[in-house]
Amino acid sequence: LAPDHKLYEGKAKIIYKTPDPQVLLAYFKDDATAFNAQKKGAIVGKGAMNCQISSHLFRYLAHQAIASHFLAQVAADVMQVQAVEIIPLEVVVRNRAAGSLCKQTGLELGLVLPFPLVEFYLKDDALGDPLLTPDRLTLLNVASTAEIAQLRGLALKINSLLTHFFQDCGITLVDFKLEFGRNPQGEILLADEISPDTCRLWNQAESDPHRRVMDKDRFRQDLGDIEAAYKSVMERVLAQEL
Ligand code: C5P
Repeated sequence: LAPDHKLYEGKAKIIYKTPDPQVLLAYFKDDATAFNAQKKGAIVGKGAMNCQISSHLFRYLAHQAIASHFLAQVAADVMQVQAVEIIPLEVVVRNRAAGSLCKQTGLELGLVLPFPLVEFYLKDDALGDPLLTPDRLTLLNVASTAEIAQLRGLALKINSLLTHFFQDCGITLVDFKLEFGRNPQGEILLADEISPDTCRLWNQAESDPHRRVMDKDRFRQDLGDIEAAYKSVMERVLAQEL
């Protein structure tokens, strides 16, 4: 992870080149941001926990025939990944109402949605990651119509797999965000990470709306005990044999 091999630095990860142009290293940082980086902090041990959680979930999804950029976990906080061209979309799937859905629609926190909601946001910090309408998605043309249909299908399949996985951990998967990329062959691969930074996860053993939160909402809402919540997610996820 030499500084001169740095390819890209994001809010939660640094991407490094390797001698093989097809292979990159993703270093998971402890830095935490929320509200489009208006709130900044660090969560001790977060990088290693998110890397281990993501690696295990990518391995699980690979066993279920979901292709991702994941190649190997090479250190507690470093993941070896395939080089992909990231599609600048954040694909959000929601099973229950929370976060921006409650804020923008008035739906009650925790309401079980009658169907999983798939949303496409433009991945653009300067624009504040706006929610796209179907026509705006077509207009911007960041992915073809066929690719959008594929992303929606993949997001729903991943939702059903992850919902079952987390259910076995005693955790409710409320919502989550995915990113996808294209490999040099133009195939779509799941990319980025799947972690408590990118999912809302509720402990099924807790009914209290604050105590049940096991994800980045603890940071966003200053609920405390962030490290312990992430650690509990990690222990439960890693305990699931693949
Ligand atoms: O904020 P909102 O309710 O739209 O977030 C939906 C889900 O997507 C949450 O699980 C949140 O953690 C995730 N998300 C993310 N990165 C963003 C925006 C949302 O991981 N930039």
